[in-house]
Amino acid sequence: MCLFALDKLLASCLLEIERCDNLKKLDVLKSTLFGKNGKVTEIMKELRNLDDSQKHKVGAEVNGLKNCIMEKLNAKFRELEVKELDKRLSSEFVDVSMPSRPEYSGKLHPLTKVEEEVSDILSSYGFVFAEGPDIESEYLNFTALNIPDHHPARTMHDTFYVHKLADEKGRRLLRTHTSPVQIRAMLENGAPCRFFSVGHVYRSDYDATHTPMFTQIEGLMVDQTVGFSHLKWIVSDFLKKFFVVKRMRVRFRPSFFPFTEPSAEVDISYDMRDGKMFFGAGEKWLEVCGCGEVHPNVLKYGNVDPEKYQGIAFGFGLERLASLKYGIPDLRGYFESDESWMSAFGFSHFAR
Ligand code: DAH
Repeated sequence: MCLFALDKLLASCLLEIERCDNLKKLDVLKSTLFGKNGKVTEIMKELRNLDDSQKHKVGAEVNGLKNCIMEKLNAKFRELEVKELDKRLSSEFVDVSMPSRPEYSGKLHPLTKVEEEVSDILSSYGFVFAEGPDIESEYLNFTALNIPDHHPARTMHDTFYVHKLADEKGRRLLRTHTSPVQIRAMLENGAPCRFFSVGHVYRSDYDATHTPMFTQIEGLMVDQTVGFSHLKWIVSDFLKKFFVVKRMRVRFRPSFFPFTEPSAEVDISYDMRDGKMFFGAGEKWLEVCGCGEVHPNVLKYGNVDPEKYQGIAFGFGLERLASLKYGIPDLRGYFESDESWMSAFGFSHFAR
């Protein structure tokens, strides 16, 4: 075996590897060199025929040649892999931030949209979000809200009882309003406090204007000097901002809730023009809210001293607010997961 020939082979192999411009060709080249009948393999085989004195010297040369070619080959593999990956990355780039095609895009449920709007406004008054469970005790849903056993208000609420569950706090039920969160928040935070809650409530009722599950917003503010004037300002300003009008006509009508004294229901005025409702104008009135000064008994149940603190509270129906603002007619649609209803009344995610 001529060492000069080995040098020549090495030079030509290195050149061939250098010129190779894609992985497929490089693979083929690898097998023409190191495959079963590859050029380098053949030379290795020939080593066997050499006598011992030559074997040592030529063997070292051939090994050197083999390693040199291998190294060059591996380096070329790495270089071409990086190149091909770069090429693929730039040609197959996917912009994950792009919006989906309009025909397939999902929509934001109107209740989600309205909940976000309401939360934004109430947070701007320093109210923080508080939560309570959907399965509530009779004690927190009624007793602690100054609705004693056998009070007619208990039957007015058409309560769903969870019969199997009961303890010293009475039977368990699906909460009929979000007002029990008032007690939870007071017990947890003490006074002074400002919080709001948004959540599902349940009553056994079903027609175009009632669904067995609906959503309420609850607000509570407890402080040493808080009173009805604060309540009037907060509720009026909230409604003005929610309905995005410069002026909101609001009427506080005396009413009764066991947990507030005095209590009021709030109406907003509207006008009908071309089948559309305009708020803040007109002589027609719509009820949107219940509110009042927190009854001293309720403060006591919340472990707040009524001699030192006063509270104001209010409650809205979220579906009602959404229906009025966005002209959604039938309450049942909110919970039917109907795609055509969602495409009619849902919002683009960009409307956020
Ligand atoms: N919980 C009442 C209801 O479900 C609504 C309500 C009225 C909440 C007056 C209040 C309030 O916080 O002060 O009808």
